[in-house]
Amino acid sequence: MIVTIDGVAASGKSSVASGVARALGIPYVSSGLLYRAATLLGLEQGLALDDAASLLAHLHANPLRLEPRAEGNRVWVGERELTADLHSSRVDAGVSVVAALPEVRAWVDAHLRALPEPFVAEGRDMGTNVFPHAGAKFYLTASPRVRAERRAKERPEDVPAIEAALTERDRLDTVQSAPAPDARVIDTGPLPLEGVIGEVLEGVRTRMT
Ligand code: DC
Repeated sequence: MIVTIDGVAASGKSSVASGVARALGIPYVSSGLLYRAATLLGLEQGLALDDAASLLAHLHANPLRLEPRAEGNRVWVGERELTADLHSSRVDAGVSVVAALPEVRAWVDAHLRALPEPFVAEGRDMGTNVFPHAGAKFYLTASPRVRAERRAKERPEDVPAIEAALTERDRLDTVQSAPAPDARVIDTGPLPLEGVIGEVLEGVRTRMT
């Protein structure tokens, strides 16, 4: 069984995916972390972020390992853990450029499709491109202001600056960020985290019975 949870930046996908995965007793997989890890390594190597050939050569020479634990995913390259460095503003600013590269998308997709089921997959195109056969699909939205207020609790910037960056990332991510036609769309703005998790679990049960 695969459950997909897609949605716009800072819509609460990771927290919801983690809560749903824990309730179902299965792992969740954060596809965004792989795009973020590719971006971080590219920045550290001084590569141009739109240089797909150099990025992929580096990724093939230094394979990433995604640990899909329900409490929170972790990413490693060899013995080095990257997880804590993947949510910086520097990575936020560069990741859309890397995620727009078809070669990088194919690399992430192959990584995800090799994982053993069952799991909850979280990202932008899990229900559309990567796992179109998933058993239950969800798409999370929220207004830019609500999302910026949430992110401000995790970043040292103010709400208007974060809102502007999120709106720009929405624009850059639009192509790969449309909901699957068979996804249930949930506006997370008016709901507490537990409410969103409950709605997803209810949807999963409806689909599975
Ligand atoms: O969900 P996130 O903010 O961690 O994702 C980081 C970036 O990766 C985001 O700007 C869009 C991109 N992304 C993507 O294009 N496709 C995915 N399946 C997941 C993330």
